[in-house]
Amino acid sequence: MTTAVLIVAAGKGTRAGGGIAKQWRILAGKTVIDWTIAAFRRAGLNHIMVVRDAQDAAGRDALRAHPDVQQADGGADRASSVLNGLLALQRDGIQHVLIHDAARPCVSPTVIHGALDALKTSIAAAPGLPVTDALWIGDDNMVAGPQDRSNLFAAQTPQAFHFDAILSAHLALEGAAADDVEVARKAGLPVRITPGDSNNIKITRPEDFARAETILRSSMDIRLGNGYDVHRFGPGDHVTLCGIPIPHDHGLQGHSDADVGMHAVTDALYGALAEGDIGRHFPPSDPQWKGAASDIFLRHAVDLATSRGFSIGNIDCTLVCEFPKIGPHAEAMRTRMAEITGIGRDRISIKATTSERLGFTGRGEGIAALATATLVRV
Ligand code: CTP
Ligand code: MG
Repeated sequence: MTTAVLIVAAGKGTRAGGGIAKQWRILAGKTVIDWTIAAFRRAGLNHIMVVRDAQDAAGRDALRAHPDVQQADGGADRASSVLNGLLALQRDGIQHVLIHDAARPCVSPTVIHGALDALKTSIAAAPGLPVTDALWIGDDNMVAGPQDRSNLFAAQTPQAFHFDAILSAHLALEGAAADDVEVARKAGLPVRITPGDSNNIKITRPEDFARAETILRSSMDIRLGNGYDVHRFGPGDHVTLCGIPIPHDHGLQGHSDADVGMHAVTDALYGALAEGDIGRHFPPSDPQWKGAASDIFLRHAVDLATSRGFSIGNIDCTLVCEFPKIGPHAEAMRTRMAEITGIGRDRISIKATTSERLGFTGRGEGIAALATATLVRV
């Protein structure tokens, strides 16, 4: 069964304020749309279409991170945005479609699959949350009477449909509709209610960002790892530290290129994954790693983290030596480490200290490095 996800992200987010539309704003370290797309990928759904306003520069920037996500132009209201997205999906041979608000980044795999599974027996299904608060009818800020809540639900997304049925319903729509369930019902389609989730909030007002952040952070898996490495000085005319060759009156000795900084960072990543250290993955006894550029090791640790669903939160590395001086090279090291790890330079810190001429680093016998790294999985 071919299933597509249609995420509507062409609204202006007027009520949420904040300068740029809410779906492009940063929430718990990445954009709202990043979270929303990730929620569907986590549920195993990768055929994704985002409807956005092509004139919105913030949207263009945010979607650059998702080259494999298709894009369609938004419309004047939500229903016309959905129709544009459905028309753009028409050629793809889609049988089932999930239509979702970009502004609901906390949607869980359970809610997604609840709606999708209902399509086995229903033509349309959508998550609803039974209303639990007592309800009043108000009149001029006075309570005019109670409202029975026994059959009331708060509507959520993703709303799931047989593709051809919802496309026809949208094409036949006259007037406005708040959501796709309303469009479907106007076309006479029965809609099943599936379990909603109180965490599946729609970011609407400014204060909703803090709520969404709390929800997302509570389900995060955050790992911290440390790494430590030492290499001894020997004959040579340069050292390689965090991927940058630096002229020096000695070289560093080691089986590989002896990049002590990169080794400490790599071990920090392995540590965060509880995956031992470089020696376990690249045994020094194996001749193929002799003189190897250490980025092989670092790339392996990054790939291992990625394959387990983690992304790197940040890296902090301290080099301990009297000479060479690190300061003039620290920015180049950050740039190189960013290239290798694929994360932003602003998440990589490289600093140095002397040990006040004390101990082996103080006597100029070698260089030590310490590193810390965080990994985050949502
Ligand atoms: N949406 C859309 N096209 C529109 C209007 C809304 O794609 N013309 C999308 C929004 O981007 C959002 C979802 O529909 O993901 C739900 O709409 P809402 O929460 O009302 O978002 P906005 O319309 O952007 O916000 P506001 O009403 O505060 O301006
Ligand atoms: Mg709106």
